[in-house]
Amino acid sequence: MAPSYRPRRTCLAVPGSSPRFLEKARGVPVDEVFLDLEDAVAPGAKPAARGAVIQALNGGGWEGKIRAVRINGATTPWAYRDVIEVVEGAGQNLDVIILPKASEPAQVTWLDLLLSQVEQAAGLERGRIGIEAQIEDARGLADVAAIAAASDRLEALVFGPADFMASIGMRSLEVGAQPEGYTRGDAYHYPRMRILVAARSRGIAAIDGPYLAIRDLDGLRQDAASSAALGYDGKWVLHPGQVEPVNQVFAPDQDAYDRAELILDAYAHATDVRQTGAVMLGDEMIDEASRKLALVTAAKGRAAGLARTQSFDPGPGGASAEHSPGGERLGQAAGQG
Ligand code: GLV
Ligand code: MG
Repeated sequence: MAPSYRPRRTCLAVPGSSPRFLEKARGVPVDEVFLDLEDAVAPGAKPAARGAVIQALNGGGWEGKIRAVRINGATTPWAYRDVIEVVEGAGQNLDVIILPKASEPAQVTWLDLLLSQVEQAAGLERGRIGIEAQIEDARGLADVAAIAAASDRLEALVFGPADFMASIGMRSLEVGAQPEGYTRGDAYHYPRMRILVAARSRGIAAIDGPYLAIRDLDGLRQDAASSAALGYDGKWVLHPGQVEPVNQVFAPDQDAYDRAELILDAYAHATDVRQTGAVMLGDEMIDEASRKLALVTAAKGRAAGLARTQSFDPGPGGASAEHSPGGERLGQAAGQG
């Protein structure tokens, strides 16, 4: 994960056909907002929704948020006009297009090419608009690694549990909750893990889909916590009430963040100043792999606006030299205001 990590803890779905929701969404503290032209918009309302979405993007007020539009799927009659109209009309105010029901890499290639054509024709910077691909059917999951590799524009893979459940015939109508009768663990673990591995194999983000029972905040927290624990970057939210719990779940807690920053400092001191590769930090041996893990937590913490409460103290005289098998012992945290 790059140091320029872009937070996507919460991705708010906003129906493109609802001027009221489009207006309200500006004030909701999410990392990404996506204006939907797909399943939240009735077929007859889609052409008008494009205009409303263009107006909302150009109207501004989205500072601090990734501005996304979910177009209709590549096999529908609406998709090409969604791209052409929205990018021609508001391309300079749009960061990402979400491609739903991505079931094969050719669909991502199609979107990449079309975006390049419209960008050129409209005089927009080539390649600035990214793509997030939703993996939400059996074909998409079976081909997820190829989909993740289909375009340099891809910034994230997104799990779509509702469509996925329908696609595989899961016997439940409660999206995000465990299906009744399944007693062997987490029914979503397999798709989530495959999507996460495919995303990380290309160095892009992995985002979990929605939890539909918007008043069940305990269920939401549980669902979000399991994808956050795996390594997911964030989750869709459907209602302002879901935002705070999900932002919280996807940011590291203060102790984990402080620890990650200490590991980075201690490891940098060990390798740059003392020229050693493994070192003890308190009671824990840290090495290059620890640094990589700490980078992820530190990047997520910084992106969530956390501030350090502990500073690194290398010990008396720059660093202590208490030896342990394979590593040197360095000082722990020093309290800091
Ligand atoms: C989201 O699009 C889903 O199908 O869950
Ligand atoms: Mg869907």
